[in-house]
Amino acid sequence: MFTKLPSATTAGQDQLIWKVLFDRQTALLHRRAAPAFSEGLARLGMRREAIPDIGELSATVFENTGWALAPVGRPFEPGAFFELLAERRFPVVTRIRPMHAFDFSPQPDLFHDLFGHVPMLLDKGLADFLHMLGQAYRAQPVGSPAREQLWALYFFTAEFGLVQHEEQPRLYGAGLLSSAGEIHHCVNENTPRLVFDLATVLRTPVSGTRYQNQYFVLPAWEQLTDCVAELAGLLAIA
Ligand SMILES: [Fe+2]
Repeated sequence: MFTKLPSATTAGQDQLIWKVLFDRQTALLHRRAAPAFSEGLARLGMRREAIPDIGELSATVFENTGWALAPVGRPFEPGAFFELLAERRFPVVTRIRPMHAFDFSPQPDLFHDLFGHVPMLLDKGLADFLHMLGQAYRAQPVGSPAREQLWALYFFTAEFGLVQHEEQPRLYGAGLLSSAGEIHHCVNENTPRLVFDLATVLRTPVSGTRYQNQYFVLPAWEQLTDCVAELAGLLAIA
């Protein structure tokens, strides 16, 4: 299940891709990213000059929120993914996207996972929310509508979520933070950005291969954890 990091023959090209992506995303995210992301990125000491060491990042995240990073060779299917979340472990794909997929990588890659997800794992609210999602998913029957709903909730929060901050919608979903193409689509004046409503989110279809049709904006960061109690009632109905 677990693999080693890419060989030295590709290391130079991988470092270049990391540097270019890092520069572009940090420029795009200026005053667009949620405070939790900017704070997490700074605390982890991520730099444009070098791909971070996954083991060192994992140790820092563990000290702060009890989560560990699990290097993997390719993205997991949802069942295995949520199993890890239930154990407070987050999979990190060790392969970085190719040059031709700079703007949008349909599958998670090293940049998406390290740059997009890991800084947010330092936030206790998001970390606890993901843990709860993993436990809830595991408790539901395989193939059940409830699992589909939990997948949608994960998508429209941890992957493509926004939160209102100082009267501006700020990005905190990793699919947004790590993709220039998705950011431009999301902030376009013609793209619907709806106020987060749990019941609506649970029944909204997700797209893993193209940009989302709409996004959801949390009115306040605390609402992410506040919706956990409401979620239990809604899943019981499903
Ligand atoms: Fe992701």
